[in-house]
Amino acid sequence: MVARTFCGEFKVENIAQQAKLCGWVQTSRDHGGVIFLDIRDRSGLMQVVVHPEAGELHAIAHRLRQQDVLEVQGEVIARAEGTVNNKLATGAVELKASNIVIHNRSETPPFVLDDQCDAGEQHRLQYRYLDLRRPVMQSHMMLRHKVMHAGRSFLNNEGFIDVETPILNKSTPEGARDYLVPSRTHAGQFFALPQSPQIFKQLLMVAGMERYYQIARCFRDEDLRADRQPEFTQVDLEMSFVDQEDVMKLSEGLIAAMFRAGMNIDLSQPFPRITYAEAMDKYGSDKPDLRFDLPLNNISDLMKDVEFKVFSGPANNGGAVKVLHVPGGAKLSRKKIDAYTEFVGIYGARGLAWIKVNDANDIPKGLQSPIVKFLPEDVLAKILSRCDAKDGDILFFGADKTNVVNDALGNLRVKLGQDMGLIDPNEHAFVWVVDFPMFGFNEEEKRLDALHHPFTAPVEKDLAMLDSDPINVCSQAYDLVWNGTEIGGGSIRIHQTDVQRKVFNALGIDDEEADSRFGFLLDALKYGAPPHGGLAFGLDRVLALMVGADSIRDVMAFPKTQKAGDLMCDAPSDVDEKQLRELSIRLRRTVKV
Ligand code: AMO
Ligand code: AMP
Repeated sequence: MVARTFCGEFKVENIAQQAKLCGWVQTSRDHGGVIFLDIRDRSGLMQVVVHPEAGELHAIAHRLRQQDVLEVQGEVIARAEGTVNNKLATGAVELKASNIVIHNRSETPPFVLDDQCDAGEQHRLQYRYLDLRRPVMQSHMMLRHKVMHAGRSFLNNEGFIDVETPILNKSTPEGARDYLVPSRTHAGQFFALPQSPQIFKQLLMVAGMERYYQIARCFRDEDLRADRQPEFTQVDLEMSFVDQEDVMKLSEGLIAAMFRAGMNIDLSQPFPRITYAEAMDKYGSDKPDLRFDLPLNNISDLMKDVEFKVFSGPANNGGAVKVLHVPGGAKLSRKKIDAYTEFVGIYGARGLAWIKVNDANDIPKGLQSPIVKFLPEDVLAKILSRCDAKDGDILFFGADKTNVVNDALGNLRVKLGQDMGLIDPNEHAFVWVVDFPMFGFNEEEKRLDALHHPFTAPVEKDLAMLDSDPINVCSQAYDLVWNGTEIGGGSIRIHQTDVQRKVFNALGIDDEEADSRFGFLLDALKYGAPPHGGLAFGLDRVLALMVGADSIRDVMAFPKTQKAGDLMCDAPSDVDEKQLRELSIRLRRTVKV
């Protein structure tokens, strides 16, 4: 019996050996009677050749079609001179078939299974098992495995133990909407799927596990975007007796190990840090892309006394006026500027004033702009000097509530970075964002929200402010940002019951409600809970960035659509009346939305 050789592993050294391969027909060509088959398995492609003299075998080969699945036996031979394919790992050899077993025939696939495939994503998701046969998707799955394996090895070596936590949980909303599961044995009651293992990993610290990790599936019923799925994977960890520095250092080691495995690049550590306040002020975002500069300049102080109400209004009423200075931007056309004005509108901006600097030494004549006439010369000079604007530059202005200005100019900054070619595709800019406030103000509901989650510890020195001035309390939370995407986040946790109660109170959760929703955690903290902290990386996001995919769907085997459905299995779907009855559920309406 000849053992199987994987298609991608045939080498010149195998010439004259008998060999066997298994795989799928990628292409078949008939060159004047000689049939060439490209056979593919997970490892790569190998050419099989069948000559007309092969009789019955030739007739079999002639009938083969794309994606038929075969086993071929034969002799490894050198390819004829002039037919060697240097682009293919196995391009110097071919297998001269002496026997072909057809394991199964394939119908014509609904799209071409190669990397140039231009099938729509709906189609690809519906036939995901075929889409995954494409080499690019196979390499994504193998990369996923490799990176996960590297993460596990790193954590195993650091003394972490992998503990599984439950999927059927109590509903304790963490920010997103829960996925609920009705209980048959407790009629009318529901489990929730975990948004993350957050509370369980904290309980494992109370339980004395010291160092926990899990490659954990999380479920969040939120509005989906390219970097969000309803079901996704975290590399989740928690450690006892540590401070913020310890967790960040460990996490840098972890991401560096995953990076080495996935990208073959050694990241230099420690990663740079930026405070939340500075990130928002300078880049208008808590996940700044630091592959390019283009900082925002706050000019609110210069705008307080100008007559131009569009600017003086926000400057005097707690809002902000900021400038995005774009070196070399004076060449942008009117059409382009109009497109950027429309772009910032998505983020709520009501306009996008601009000044083109034609001659910085000739104010105001050297400035081309619809707003120069509204601003005094000395103010114009100060704006230019604050931004260090030179001839040939453009300044974009945002004036509104601070969050609108940050959102609009922060996103415009990223767009300009891309449009103006300021991003080096080979650069990897990692940055820790630290010193997050504990709370944000929820304008709609007029109350405080946890900026991370309610289990995040405040910094020691701000503890007393939890009652008196919660909005200004700083937390011990940290996010890791890679090229402008938040890939992970964590914090030191609250390990004292009274502090946890105070944080709940600040969030509008009174003691009674806290006991009913989180009583088990509050109880656990009473029994010798150690100081602890941790972090979770979004594995899918890390992988999508590694392969340069537009969406995290491309690095997940069976993702959901943008509408959180599964096109292949047609889920979610209706269930039997009997199943509903067992669950004590009567549907309010059965109309499909
Ligand atoms: P957080 O909610 O910040 O923290 O999640 C951690 C990381 O998970 C990824 N992520 C997602 N990836 C894909 N689809 C989603 N819908 C999605 N939501 C989040 C992000 C994010 O940085 N328990 C805490 C962690 C901790 O404090 O230790 C938590 O879940 O990359
Ligand atoms: P207007 O006086 O409305 O014609 O606006 C003059 C210029 O200011 C135009 O270029 C507008 O796009 C811009 N503009 C209007 N509102 C704002 C705003 N809130 N922030 C920045 N620019 C604005």
